[in-house]
Amino acid sequence: MRVAGRLVGETLNHLEKLVEIGVSTYELDREAEAFIRRNGGIPSFLHYNGYPASICTSVNEQVVHGIPSKKVKLKDGDIISIDCGAIVDGWHGDAARTFLVGNVAPEVKKLVEVTKECFFLGAAQAKEGNHLIDIARAVETHAKEYGYGVVRDMVGHGIGTSMHEPPEVPNYVDIRMGRGAKLFEGMTLAIEPMINLGTWRIVIAADGWTASAADGKPSAHYENTVIVGKDSAEVLTLV
Ligand code: MF3
Ligand code: CO
Repeated sequence: MRVAGRLVGETLNHLEKLVEIGVSTYELDREAEAFIRRNGGIPSFLHYNGYPASICTSVNEQVVHGIPSKKVKLKDGDIISIDCGAIVDGWHGDAARTFLVGNVAPEVKKLVEVTKECFFLGAAQAKEGNHLIDIARAVETHAKEYGYGVVRDMVGHGIGTSMHEPPEVPNYVDIRMGRGAKLFEGMTLAIEPMINLGTWRIVIAADGWTASAADGKPSAHYENTVIVGKDSAEVLTLV
């Protein structure tokens, strides 16, 4: 999983260099698939439950699962969340970043920064003896300090020989969940805060995939695959 994770991290670094005004999300997808394959991986999103591309490209109010398209060209002031997964020797890596395009409004830039901070605060709780609720509380508390909406309908997940394995890793605390599963050293999780500038509520587009903030305000996503450790998490998809 370290090898798969590194490849996903490298793919996202490669894509970051290509994000600029005028580039289409289709071009980013073509680059991602080629990069993953020439480095010995298989894009895990392609054909997953019928998904038609190798990455998800979610622009502005789109939260996750935006489908790359020749018609979507990045504009000055956009933010784009790129979610990417790869398989190497049967093992999965999964990660997402939100990138800025040109001059982004200060309040939107702040949302992107805080979403990344939410991940690191959550990951700091991914240690033996803690429970899933500790990750969720860390993410939610930080996001709420800024009045942001924490997406509830989509969650992080266990990951290993499949992209999505138990347990679900929510980014919010709900009394009905109890403390959630106990964490132990060696567990592999995808921790992925999805944070909205406005409401936490999302709507799914007619394409059956694209999730957008219900109020049309910007949304950010930051995800890494991690290994739960004794005292801290090891992040596999950041290189
Ligand atoms: N990477 C997403 C996740 O974090 C899954 C993408 S769904 C797919 O769970 F269909 F695009 F693969
Ligand atoms: Co994921």
